[in-house]
Amino acid sequence: MTSRAHVAGWGKYVPERVLTNDDLTQMVETSDEWIRSRTGILERRIASDSDTTASMAIEAAHEAIEMAGIRPSDIDMIIVATCTPDHVFPSTACLVQDAIGATHAAAFDVAAGCSGFVYGLSVAADLIAAEAYQTALVIGAETLSRIVDWEDRATCVLFGDGAGAVILRSNGADGGILSSVLGSDGSGGDLLHLPAGGSRHPASHHTVSERMHFLKMKGREVFRFAVSVMPDATRQVLGQAGLTLEEVSLIIPHQANRRITNASVKALGLPEDRIYSNVERYGNTSAASIPIALCEAVEEDRVHRDDLVVLVGFGAGLTWAASAVRWSAPLPTIRPARWEKAWYGIRYRYAAIRSLARRVIRWIAARFSRDE
Ligand code: ACO
Repeated sequence: MTSRAHVAGWGKYVPERVLTNDDLTQMVETSDEWIRSRTGILERRIASDSDTTASMAIEAAHEAIEMAGIRPSDIDMIIVATCTPDHVFPSTACLVQDAIGATHAAAFDVAAGCSGFVYGLSVAADLIAAEAYQTALVIGAETLSRIVDWEDRATCVLFGDGAGAVILRSNGADGGILSSVLGSDGSGGDLLHLPAGGSRHPASHHTVSERMHFLKMKGREVFRFAVSVMPDATRQVLGQAGLTLEEVSLIIPHQANRRITNASVKALGLPEDRIYSNVERYGNTSAASIPIALCEAVEEDRVHRDDLVVLVGFGAGLTWAASAVRWSAPLPTIRPARWEKAWYGIRYRYAAIRSLARRVIRWIAARFSRDE
């Protein structure tokens, strides 16, 4: 392996609608004090009726593409990490591919719960390092509000919606994604799952009446798993890259619960300011949480050039994942000028026209062509 994958652009999208802890007290028997003290969450974003996982992923992708200054047709591969895809199939990645006009890209989804973004990052980075691809768009996007049981106070207070994206590119330089660790333990699959809607329990009156299309979680067990796996994965990914904890500038963990991140940083023996948190504003956005947090950490000047950043997540599966990243993107970031934004707008409109034209051609071919 000769070339490394570097983060060349990043972007996020969160819906406008804010749901506060006080709002939740009108919906279930809970309190701001309980949610705050047990999770650190103060509010979360909820998708509008017109938002979907794909529409939010597309917004985040636009920002990342424009930041990287590339053309959508430069993208070789799109990976969307999500457990709330628009459909079982086609993949959400294909919806993104069509909407942004990434005409040369392979596209697929990754289902690894909250670890999904780092899973996708690792796969893309390794394919870039193997020189199979040059440019990848990796997205974490979720509309958890559509699978949360709004009558279950033990889960509905935890989750939120949003999307984050990065562009990975090889540039022959040192740094970038240095190492990744991926893990799984399917024996814990029942701790966090969506019982129905798959081949085991296809949708039926029974699955609907039994509320089997809503997320179920054994919170205490997931908590115990998280506080042990996050420090272990962090140590492992650093060891693999020949680095030490002392060299880490910032850990960006999956944003599930402030108590989990505090316990993890304590187990690692690091000061609290070495771990990034925005869970108070967004709750747990599953696969979207790490890329959203990464974007905000950069915006807040918490990441500097040549910093060593560890991204670490855990989630449904059970799964866990960590990546050690030497930040090599130029800072401060140069936002695209207005004319560049306008130019991208024209490209996206062209992509929409192209997509429509292809559908029309397919429709005409189906009506007028005769199969031999
Ligand atoms: N408001 C008020 N009381 C509540 C609420 C609520 N929203 N939810 C639960 N309670 C009650 C329970 O009924 C229970 O009452 P009881 O003792 O009378 O039975 C009490 O509070 C304690 O409940 P616990 O579940 O033991 O509370 P705990 O301190 O463990 O906190 C929590 C629960 C926040 C869910 C915690 O276990 C946790 O964070 N777990 C990890 C969850 C997580 O990270 N999930 C995401 C995984 S990533 C992914 O892939 C999606």
